[in-house]
Amino acid sequence: MSGEPVFLIFGKSGWIGGLLGDLLKEKGAKFEFATARLEDRSAIIQDIERVKPTHVLNAAGLTGRPNVDWCETHKVETIRANVIGCLNLADVCMQREIHMTYYGTGCIFHYDDSHPIGGPGFVESDAPNFTGSYYSHTKAIVENLLKEFPNVLTLRVRMPIVESLVYPRNFITKIIKYDRVVDIPNSMTVLPELLPYSIEMAKRRLTGIMNFTNPGVVSHNEILQMYKDYIDPEFEWKNFTLEEQAKVIVAPRSNNLLDTKRIESEFPMILSIKDSLIKYVFEPNARQKAEVLAAVKEMRGR
Ligand SMILES: NC(=O)c1ccc[n+]([C@@H]2O[C@H](COP(=O)([O-])OP(=O)(O)OC[C@H]3O[C@@H](n4cnc5c(N)ncnc54)[C@H](OP(=O)(O)O)[C@@H]3O)[C@@H](O)[C@H]2O)c1
Repeated sequence: MSGEPVFLIFGKSGWIGGLLGDLLKEKGAKFEFATARLEDRSAIIQDIERVKPTHVLNAAGLTGRPNVDWCETHKVETIRANVIGCLNLADVCMQREIHMTYYGTGCIFHYDDSHPIGGPGFVESDAPNFTGSYYSHTKAIVENLLKEFPNVLTLRVRMPIVESLVYPRNFITKIIKYDRVVDIPNSMTVLPELLPYSIEMAKRRLTGIMNFTNPGVVSHNEILQMYKDYIDPEFEWKNFTLEEQAKVIVAPRSNNLLDTKRIESEFPMILSIKDSLIKYVFEPNARQKAEVLAAVKEMRGR
């Protein structure tokens, strides 16, 4: 396909959808936001006929508020958006040979005997082994179905991170705020580094599944230690075990390492998770340490 790409973004009001809009605007790319609900196939077709995209970026889906526990008690809504809706969009795109990038999740894996902490990561062809939360269950189902669509790239996003330490959805903000945190190494996605790669992947018309995380793992304590080193030398925190954590959440959460050979082969310059955190989060925040510290203290109410 030749000519300038035209992007249609689903998820305008969402975190990742909003960031994708900012990014495309910054790049001077042609794009529009969709207005359709994913369950409404005819509205999707109207959006597509209006914008005539070459590429759809699907960052729409139910993630639950205040967190994924919401999906445990709203199962039909979750199926309609995350499975039926997502497949509707993929199908409409396939019929028109439009490439779709789907911002999915890597929270469909959990360390197991073949993938223990410190062992090999889960590769793109591995079948999900974590369906402990209803959210993850629907995401695993849809990933498995989407991989048959020749026009779809599924990105496995994990524990997304942005620069702002007071943005409530930022994984770092969450663990700074919690009274107690578990301490487990995990793969994570530093959005300011990786979202631009996703646009490039769409332009390259990559398909199939992509583990969309920075190489390597970082643990909760390592992140909080970085926060202490770069921003607040007085910062203290308490740990608790997975068993203790289970008492304060409804559905279990996944912890894992995703293998990153595929993304590294496309983007050899990708930074390790720890280097990316330093470059995109801690160094920029350290340059305005006083303001950041005041804002975080106000957010934590102490
Ligand atoms: N944030 C995370 O921690 C995280 C981690 C891993 C993966 N992901 C995945 O990345 C994707 C985007 O996440 P996000 O954090 O940006 O989500 P978000 O902030 O919750 O935004 C979700 C977006 O989807 C839209 N939406 C929900 N149901 C819809 C439907 N039925 N039809 C059309 N639009 C619908 C919402 O619009 P309305 O507000 O109008 O409903 C909103 O714009 C999701 O697939 C999520 O699973 C997120």
